[in-house]
Amino acid sequence: MVKEIKNNKLYFDGCDVVELAEKYGSPIYVMSKTDIESRLSELNRDFVDKYGNARVAYASKAFCSVGMYKILDKFGASIDVVSGGEIYTAKKAGFPAERIEFNGNNKLESEIDEAVEYGVGRIILDGTHEVPLIEKACKKYNKKMNIMIRITPGVAASTHDYIVTGKKDSKFGIPLDDDVFLKVVGDVVNSEWLEYTGLHMHIGSQLFENDAFVEALNVVMDRVAQVKDEFGAITKEVNFGGGYGVTYTDEVRKPYSFFLDPMMEVLEKRSKEIGIERPCAVVEPGRSIVAEAGISVYKIGQIKEVRGIRTYMSVDGGMGDNIRVALYQAEYDGIIANRAEEEPKKKVTVCGKYCESGDILLNDFMVPEETTSGDILVMFSTGAYGYAMASNYNNNPIPGVVLVENGKSDWLIKPQTYEQIIENNQIPDFI
Ligand code: LLP
Repeated sequence: MVKEIKNNKLYFDGCDVVELAEKYGSPIYVMSKTDIESRLSELNRDFVDKYGNARVAYASKAFCSVGMYKILDKFGASIDVVSGGEIYTAKKAGFPAERIEFNGNNKLESEIDEAVEYGVGRIILDGTHEVPLIEKACKKYNKKMNIMIRITPGVAASTHDYIVTGKKDSKFGIPLDDDVFLKVVGDVVNSEWLEYTGLHMHIGSQLFENDAFVEALNVVMDRVAQVKDEFGAITKEVNFGGGYGVTYTDEVRKPYSFFLDPMMEVLEKRSKEIGIERPCAVVEPGRSIVAEAGISVYKIGQIKEVRGIRTYMSVDGGMGDNIRVALYQAEYDGIIANRAEEEPKKKVTVCGKYCESGDILLNDFMVPEETTSGDILVMFSTGAYGYAMASNYNNNPIPGVVLVENGKSDWLIKPQTYEQIIENNQIPDFI
């Protein structure tokens, strides 16, 4: 465990969190390299090496930075990107282009151009609209492109409504009406610039059961058979998507094998029945690699008691660095890092400093009686979709990210400055 409590203080990957707050300031995100690497090792051991002909394509959207891409590269992982900005970051990290897979339901012409120019390994097609755009860029750079086709398997996974993606009514994926699906496959198979590579699914995020994954994969395999029958095209890869759940409060995280073993069984069995070699299996986890590797570190400021109702404990960050509570009613756990062994007896509402009543980070949070202004509050499991979804609301700078490993620490991403917030501001001459 990278979390430890010693001498009434919280340690994270060997670093005293109170000292980190003194050295780097607050608010900050802190990420454990040890934890990230242990997830990548688990995936390599229990998936890539166990099955062979398999790969991990980390979903960059969970947390994207040049340094993060360097860590992934060391583990031989691929990356899933969804924007020109993520492609640019990968380029800056020197991330090998062939290990980049480009997803997204409305890839811009300019982004497709950037992807083809850099030579990404695959584009995951999410609509007919993209076909001529990809062909145009392929012609321009005289390169062929491997195409995965993302389908909507029509399976409803149980999670928050905003992060379900595999059900029929979704903005993601190609609908499975025969005429729609076969038209897209035909466009790809018959294109001189596109190489039909396989099918892709992603059914949702923060999932704890494996049955919806297996059900959806069976739907994908039906289509693998159909593509072979109709076009004689062989599916070389099947992408299972991401979505493996993590612990925020009392959820029990499952090992990757819990999801992937039954899916691999289906993949093997169905490929045999269809009469093709088992396609390369690809997974796209984001959250499960970085969520628990990250914590948010805040300093407590004003404490206000609304008599008979509640006590508000304000911190120096809030919805600008963690929008998930306001957006998804997400729940987190936390601790007062400098009172880590004191019994939490007092109930408070932890709120941020943003001008919004909904700027709450922790509801009904228990803290030690003596907790006071200047203490350090830590929220756990904020490594995924925290920094990634941060904003400059109220012109607050986006906090930096400190990477820690076994007592060592350094900036992975420096905090934004005031200057950077306004660097693109202009004063038009008609003001
Ligand atoms: N692949 C595709 C095509 C995806 O759309 C996603 C997530 C992933 C992989 C990675 O899923 P993960 O392993 O991270 O669950 N902002 C939300 C989550 C949105 C997920 C969007 N797509 C949140 O903070 O909960």
